[in-house]
Amino acid sequence: DPLVLFLITLGAYLMGSVSFAVLVSQVMKLPDPRSFGSKNPGATNMLRGGSRLGAAIVLLGDAVKGWLAVWLAIHVLVPLGIAEGAVALVAIAVFLGHGYPVFFRFKGGKGVATALGILLALNPLMGLCSLVVWLSVMAVTRISSLSALCTSLATPFFGLFFLQTWLLRGTVFLLAVILLLHHHANIRKLLAGQETIFRQRE
Ligand code: G3P
Repeated sequence: DPLVLFLITLGAYLMGSVSFAVLVSQVMKLPDPRSFGSKNPGATNMLRGGSRLGAAIVLLGDAVKGWLAVWLAIHVLVPLGIAEGAVALVAIAVFLGHGYPVFFRFKGGKGVATALGILLALNPLMGLCSLVVWLSVMAVTRISSLSALCTSLATPFFGLFFLQTWLLRGTVFLLAVILLLHHHANIRKLLAGQETIFRQRE
């Protein structure tokens, strides 16, 4: 039913639109991450703002919303008889909700944490492999964006291995491409040797 699919997609988009960086900075009275550093409302920039706890909550919250949306799609919607295409739609919608949130003038985050949550829900082992790549690059370089870029390049291959259908493999590929595009400013800074390490303020 197209109306049901539309409502499911809308629900996932609205879940994604809940920007934990914006909410946590307001509730904890921390500086708004959209106003300093990379201006990205995400865990990395929250850390630049000086709050480890705030950054941790944002990382967890943004990951859990991606995880929850896709988990519900797989474990509630599909058993109810809704096609697997709904899982792909939900994954893309929650990710785009984070990137282009209706509640915050469509200016959202890059989506690293949310993508991780989505990957873990689609296939926990695939999510873990991606997390290991992110953590490894992070441990060596201390650059969050570079870690995300390397993970985006590696993850479609994990998808080929861990996912069973071309629909879901294609979905993961699409998310990785959008994630790369969201990092265009970071790529420019990396090439210019001007990207900031994890903690540093710009
Ligand atoms: O979480 C996004 C990360 O990959 C880069 O963040 O603030 O350094 O642009 P940022």
